[in-house]
Amino acid sequence: MAVPIRLASSSSLTLLASTSSSSFIFTKFRSIPHLRFSFSVTTAATSGNPLFCSRRGKRMAHTIAKATLGLTHPAAIESHKIALTAKDIDLVDWKGDILAVGVTEKDMIKDENSNFQNVILKKLDSQLDGLLSEVSTEEDFTGRTGQSTVLRLPGLGSKRVSLIGLGKGPIGSSTSAYKSLGESVALTAKASQANNVAVALASSQDLTPELKLTTASAIATGALLGTYEDNRFKSESKKLSLKSIDFLNLGGGPELEKKLKYTENVCSGVILGKELVNAPPNVLTPGVLAEEAEKIASTYSDVFTAKILDTEQCKELKMGSFLGVAAASENPPKFIHLCYKPPNGTIKKKLALVGKGLTFDSGGYNIKTGPGCLIELMKFDMGGSAAVLGAAKAIAQIKPPGVEVHFIVAACENMISGTGMRPGDILTASNGKTIEVNNTDAEGRLTLADALVYACNQGVDKIVDLATLTGACIVALGPSIAGIFTPSDEMAKEVVAASEVAGEKLWRLPMEESYWDSMKSGVADMVNTGGRQGGSITAALFLKQFVDEKVEWLHIDMAGPVWNDKKKAATGFAVPTLVQWVVANSSS
Ligand code: BES
Ligand code: MN
Ligand code: ZN
Repeated sequence: MAVPIRLASSSSLTLLASTSSSSFIFTKFRSIPHLRFSFSVTTAATSGNPLFCSRRGKRMAHTIAKATLGLTHPAAIESHKIALTAKDIDLVDWKGDILAVGVTEKDMIKDENSNFQNVILKKLDSQLDGLLSEVSTEEDFTGRTGQSTVLRLPGLGSKRVSLIGLGKGPIGSSTSAYKSLGESVALTAKASQANNVAVALASSQDLTPELKLTTASAIATGALLGTYEDNRFKSESKKLSLKSIDFLNLGGGPELEKKLKYTENVCSGVILGKELVNAPPNVLTPGVLAEEAEKIASTYSDVFTAKILDTEQCKELKMGSFLGVAAASENPPKFIHLCYKPPNGTIKKKLALVGKGLTFDSGGYNIKTGPGCLIELMKFDMGGSAAVLGAAKAIAQIKPPGVEVHFIVAACENMISGTGMRPGDILTASNGKTIEVNNTDAEGRLTLADALVYACNQGVDKIVDLATLTGACIVALGPSIAGIFTPSDEMAKEVVAASEVAGEKLWRLPMEESYWDSMKSGVADMVNTGGRQGGSITAALFLKQFVDEKVEWLHIDMAGPVWNDKKKAATGFAVPTLVQWVVANSSS
């Protein structure tokens, strides 16, 4: 018999379990790793008795009660740890599963006797009795970007040697080339189930110490993110074998160690960002997003505090614009505010990161219809908030000094129901401005309006907001470049500089004031959408209405880069850039 079990927390969800005499059997029950709930279940029959269930050999106590629509719960997959170490040893002396060498096309040039001219390749090749040069000729491996070759060998301490093409170079020029190198290393390791790999460059002697650091960091990023697979919603998942990556000729010492630690922390933020976006909208509701934020604050309570506002509290703050969007949903909205303060020292700058947090965007009454509207992907409409929380997790570990950072998300769903906002409704935002909703699908800007007013009220110097705001931005810049909008050249410079270090692509678009004409309303201060033309620009102009003029502000429209269509997965976009920007604003 199936009986509904009332759960013993404030939560409103019900878990269905079947009864067999006195015990309840949960099949395929999953506890949640990055979206973790704890369950404690009480039923009429077993009231007060905590329910234990066995899964993957472990007995787990469940302390709350929430059943997700569809009974889906992410599996508790332990996060995979890969040790990154700098080693000052010769390539030929390294012992392990795979030695991966990044080579440029120039490195691959051979003399008239088919011998490498590059010193490192020459030495390696002589250890291998010329096998390396032979195979590279046979396979026409010339070091082009994306090319790679693997040799299985008895002659060396390493079981395999892999050459990975870096293209033309010049070496040290591009973060993305080294990220790809790291990804290739990860893929090669995965294919041969390697436990340990070493990475070296054939021409690392050409790099300055500073470039060695950034190069090692880019390779590590590619490798850490390249090995990551989100299997939480699959009933089976393979365990990753890779345990360590050694960096052989990219320097060493505390500076590199620090850089690799920073990279690891950023990657853990990127992975959180990916997981939040990948999670389906029945699992990742506004309430669960808020729990995830609280979890960051409680894990890093030395530097973080959390405040979660419910509907009533948002009403008190007069957030009519945000609450208008949330009104149709059964899942209540949550206004999330995390605050980072460094462990010690004086605070010289205050920053805010504000992220659009639509856990699902149906469009509302202006429902998303027709091919290409991507309604089935609109779980990614909280990509801005995922970037903000991913950055929060990284910053919690890095602990930059001299800077206070506010992480703000107005989280809700854009749904359809009798309680929802209609096209034609007028909303009043928390700064008193009135908005005639001429399209319920332009909801992101409505939520951001109140979030930006709130951010300004925290007394911050600078705000960066991030949103999957407009399809028009994808039309303009394609899937892998985000648009940035700001009245401040200084902010544009800072954020672009951060994105270049982080290896992410941004492009500044103009905030053409004359386009504001299309946003005028006959009955309110403004409408929420202009025409089809310049849709990303009018959206940015709308946001500007809610930002204090004294506050420096930049808006990132990441509708394109939030999602990788080929991989059918989230990218974790913007986490590296945000962390880099915060660190650049820190001071000891
Ligand atoms: N979340 C969408 C933007 C979006 C669309 C992101 C497609 C990624 C892919 C946003 O809420 C939206 O619906 N924007 C509308 C605005 C329009 C009604 C002015 C859009 O872009 O179509
Ligand atoms: Mn929309
Ligand atoms: Zn949206």
